[in-house]
Amino acid sequence: MAGLLEDRVALVTGARQGLGRAITVAFVEAGAKVLALDESLDGMDETLRLSNEKDRRDRVRVVQLDLVDPASAGKAVEECIKHFGALHCLVNSAAVWFYLTLADLTVEDWDRLHAVNVRAPVFLAQAATAHLAAQAGGSIVNIASIQARVSGPGGVAYASSKAALVGVTRTMATELGPFGIRVNAICPGCFTEHEHRMRSRPEIPAYPLGRFGRPEEIASVAVFLASDAASFITGEAINVDGGTSALAPEYAAVVASSRAPAPVSLPRRIRSYARRRLRGSRSA
Ligand SMILES: NC(=O)c1ccc[n+]([C@@H]2O[C@H](COP(=O)([O-])OP(=O)(O)OC[C@H]3O[C@@H](n4cnc5c(N)ncnc54)[C@H](O)[C@@H]3O)[C@@H](O)[C@H]2O)c1
Repeated sequence: MAGLLEDRVALVTGARQGLGRAITVAFVEAGAKVLALDESLDGMDETLRLSNEKDRRDRVRVVQLDLVDPASAGKAVEECIKHFGALHCLVNSAAVWFYLTLADLTVEDWDRLHAVNVRAPVFLAQAATAHLAAQAGGSIVNIASIQARVSGPGGVAYASSKAALVGVTRTMATELGPFGIRVNAICPGCFTEHEHRMRSRPEIPAYPLGRFGRPEEIASVAVFLASDAASFITGEAINVDGGTSALAPEYAAVVASSRAPAPVSLPRRIRSYARRRLRGSRSA
């Protein structure tokens, strides 16, 4: 991905950890400068350390803002322009996520979650529009979730916010397309940085690829969508979920049992033909 975002400037929210951190690091590796925003700076040192490992030119500036505050959108964009002089790409990765059933959900929980997951991306986009339009190839990438499409008990607030974000993505793509700004969403399945959690949870059978995702596997899609390599893609919401949303639940057990730990066993006739061919090629 090196060079795909050379000298672009990006604003990435939720950058102190998780997917936002991976996106920040991947953007730096691709050549971008990044304004890394979060409400807390706990963990931001690690984001900076990993970014500097990719590029030592101190390409990340950190800003601490609470996206629940309606004034934060304008402040973030202003800081970006003041420090870097431009803004080419906005990545909305910050989110609140909790699982509360209808019985337990409160108005306060609902409002806070929707303020961060939907309202903030909308008003950050509003604040960024003029600057994105001033650059060739302006782009917005919204990190949604497969819960925009499939969900489960306890997800009423989170899933509705992600479905709204996908709707916002489509609508903004139609409004901002004439200004040369592309707007896309990524719908991640389950992602973790921890290798043991990647393969050991009971939900794994629902992942045809046999594991959860690595944060870099979202970051590379975000780099692609932000870059000119995706110059004719807008209004799209791309599932990056190891195939889980493609799998009907009744097939989960079949997929799990057909996963071959050893190389797939070929019929004997094919194996002996392959061996003969191999011996032939060695003696030739
Ligand atoms: N990790 C996954 O498996 C997964 C799956 C589907 C979707 N997603 C989505 O991907 C995105 C990133 O997920 P993650 O795993 O990195 O989550 P995370 O919880 O690790 O990180 C979210 C970040 O948002 C920040 N944030 C929360 N409220 C904020 C506020 N008011 N102001 C500013 N920053 C705030 C947090 O401090 C945190 O750093 C989210 O939008 C999430 O919904 C993640």
